[in-house]
Amino acid sequence: MEKPFRPGEARMLSLSDEDIQAAAEALIAGQLVAFPTETVYGLGADAFNSTALAKVFEAKGRPRFDPLIIHIADIHDMERVVDTGTLEPAMRKQVDAICYALWPGPLTIILPKVPAIPDLATAGLPTAAIRFPDHKAAQRLIRESTGAIAAPSANPFGYLSPTRAEHVREQLGNRVDFILDGGRTGIGVESTVIDFSSGPPRILRPGGMPRERIEAIIGPIELPGAEAPAPAGRAPLSPGLLNSHYAPRTPLTLHSQEEMSALPYRPSEAYLFFSGSVRTAWLQARGVIPPHPAYAQDTPNSSLVRALSEAGDLIEAAANLFDLLHELDRLPVSAIRAERAPDKGLGIAVNDRLSRAGRGGSA
Ligand code: TXA
Ligand code: MG
Repeated sequence: MEKPFRPGEARMLSLSDEDIQAAAEALIAGQLVAFPTETVYGLGADAFNSTALAKVFEAKGRPRFDPLIIHIADIHDMERVVDTGTLEPAMRKQVDAICYALWPGPLTIILPKVPAIPDLATAGLPTAAIRFPDHKAAQRLIRESTGAIAAPSANPFGYLSPTRAEHVREQLGNRVDFILDGGRTGIGVESTVIDFSSGPPRILRPGGMPRERIEAIIGPIELPGAEAPAPAGRAPLSPGLLNSHYAPRTPLTLHSQEEMSALPYRPSEAYLFFSGSVRTAWLQARGVIPPHPAYAQDTPNSSLVRALSEAGDLIEAAANLFDLLHELDRLPVSAIRAERAPDKGLGIAVNDRLSRAGRGGSA
């Protein structure tokens, strides 16, 4: 019997025309290609090929009840994946409006699927998740292959999402055929997932597209986490909302700013502050750095004590989130203590990931 994975390492590819062409041919041939998007790296397979889709679940160790996002690179390819014909006209208008206004971009829409999309891609759900990524190389890869590439984030199930090709190589290097190296991803947290398949639109996962930007187009929408839990024995509505997810191997605890400011400094632990100013004040108060303004200007970022954004900027914080968590997770520490970001804009997605990264998944 054929082994699920060929032994050996993934081939690293650049974003040159030839390399993207080679990766596209691999996808057409049913192989797995990890590729950069504007959010995180995806683990891609041809969305119409069940055997290739099965390899994605195997490679990630992902349960079959957790459906994949299908990536397109041309708005006209939408109808090859989803059918908006059954939606009420008002909802259809809203879908059209957000697709045209916010795609390409970090927004995934759940809609009724077409029969050509295998059940494996959608975990047997009658709906599919679809997104048009805002990344030129990803778009070329999708267009030059089959036009619809199913891709979850390219990490082992439950672990931190990858923001660099090296993260993919370290975690899945022997389970992927090719890795396209596009450097560090820009947005750094996964796409916002919004469900349009039944009833009023609902955000299933906060992400790189802030709720405010969607509401500016379609009006008020339900808040994340407002959905009812799945009935017993049925798959969760959006399985990526499992409480423990996006988790480092080192136990992580999420703290409010007040709690964080009061923590003692223990060299056996790592600390992830939201802003550089709070981190610097904390280090000064504990005598780790001298209380001199010169140090406050330019605190050397000790590898154990980090800030998501020096300036306390939410966009920068989201971009650094998984990158810094990967770094802290490599340190020989017994715990990671992270500070909540402000609960607005991309801070909602940052806090969502941090709370799921924590053991037991608070909030
Ligand atoms: O930014 C992103 O979205 C990245 C890049 C690679 O595009 N992808 C990503 O995929 O984060 P993944 O598989 O890690 O997360 C997909 C999320 C999961 O929470 C999954 O449960 C949900 O989307 N999802 C997919 N199809 C769904 C469906 N039909 N109904 C409800 N939720 C769905
Ligand atoms: Mg994921």
